[in-house]
Amino acid sequence: MIPSPVTADVQHLFSKIVQHDESISPMHLDLPNETHDTISLAYGDADPALFPVDALIAAVDSMLTGNLDISLNYAPAYAGLVALVQARMARQNVPLARNEVLLANGSSQILSLLPQILCNPGDVIIVEGPSFLGAVETFFNCGLTIETVPVRDDGLDLDILESTLARLATQGIRAKFIYTIPTFQNPTGSLMPLANRQRLVALAAQYGVIIIEDDAYGDLHFENPIPLKLIAIDPTWVLYVGTFSKILAPGVRMAWACGPAEIIKRLNRFKTEGSNGPFMTRLVAQVSADGWLDQHIAILNAHYAQKCQAMLDTIAQTFPSDVRYNRPLGGFFVYVYLPNDLPVSRLLPAAIANGVSFLPGTTCYADGQGTHEIRLAFSFQSQEKVVEGIRRLGATMHQLRQA
Ligand SMILES: Cc1ncc(COP(=O)(O)O)c(C=O)c1O
Repeated sequence: MIPSPVTADVQHLFSKIVQHDESISPMHLDLPNETHDTISLAYGDADPALFPVDALIAAVDSMLTGNLDISLNYAPAYAGLVALVQARMARQNVPLARNEVLLANGSSQILSLLPQILCNPGDVIIVEGPSFLGAVETFFNCGLTIETVPVRDDGLDLDILESTLARLATQGIRAKFIYTIPTFQNPTGSLMPLANRQRLVALAAQYGVIIIEDDAYGDLHFENPIPLKLIAIDPTWVLYVGTFSKILAPGVRMAWACGPAEIIKRLNRFKTEGSNGPFMTRLVAQVSADGWLDQHIAILNAHYAQKCQAMLDTIAQTFPSDVRYNRPLGGFFVYVYLPNDLPVSRLLPAAIANGVSFLPGTTCYADGQGTHEIRLAFSFQSQEKVVEGIRRLGATMHQLRQA
């Protein structure tokens, strides 16, 4: 064991932000112990059965027999991957110059860099409630003041957003950014319609606030076309974040940010780990080329749509009728609103005892809301386990009511 320079109070050694981080955040997750036969519906991991193993092996094979030096030595990120991102975004009405795109090691890296270049501790930001746990926790840990605006079935509540922006303006405060997931939101699965998207970008322009559009699930739609991306409607105030995690594999850690060159330039300056690696960037570009990625996404969508439907059907058959839930048209999650007598604090321990777990809604808010909300991921478990997990959860709800 390394001897510590101090044995007692070490707080003073750390930055103010890290000291802040020491206080347990409201998003802190302390799931009771799971046994090996617990079915976890908590996390939005990708389905391992869908990992494109053969395609990845073929791509690695050809890279290692061909471009050894440029794949394995120090070198910049492979420009071909930026070109691929540009082509994919252009197809969705987002033409981008080279200096408007940044590659990163997962969108989580981008989300943690953004406060560094845009904010000082204490600055106000606007975040959907509920929202993506990882982002909320990152922003909280940066010491930002989080204004929570509710998410409805059609996305961010724009009336409340507008009154929040107006209230802040009367206090002389301009929020530093609005963080939103307009397409198959994590955790609610909601999809913002076009008219709301247009109003959202107009509000951002009116109040001079940057929108961070997190589009992690933008390609994962079970039905036909989805509304234009915010950045396609008006790129002036939008910084877009996309990822290969959900459409290829989270383990490749590859994502991109695109938007105003001034923001991209500064993100680049703070992203100091030295490119995204010639190996990984080339691998992702190589495996995605020639339409392969689109075919793969179609397979994913068919598969996830089936598991989502299986989850919804089983919920309809097994949950008490006063439990409300969304019916997502894409993404990874079903979000559930529990009746008053079934708070998460009662349901979670009983569910774990019955062999199923889920993500408590409280982890998706910065301010302790979500005590009667839960997120159920249909992405990771097999369809059989999704169905069995929901049956166990439904049975738990009925048991608690009879207790
Ligand atoms: C909305 C959202 N954004 C970002 C991420 C993180 O993705 P990445 O693997 O690119 O860091 C997730 C992962 O669950 C997510 O749900």
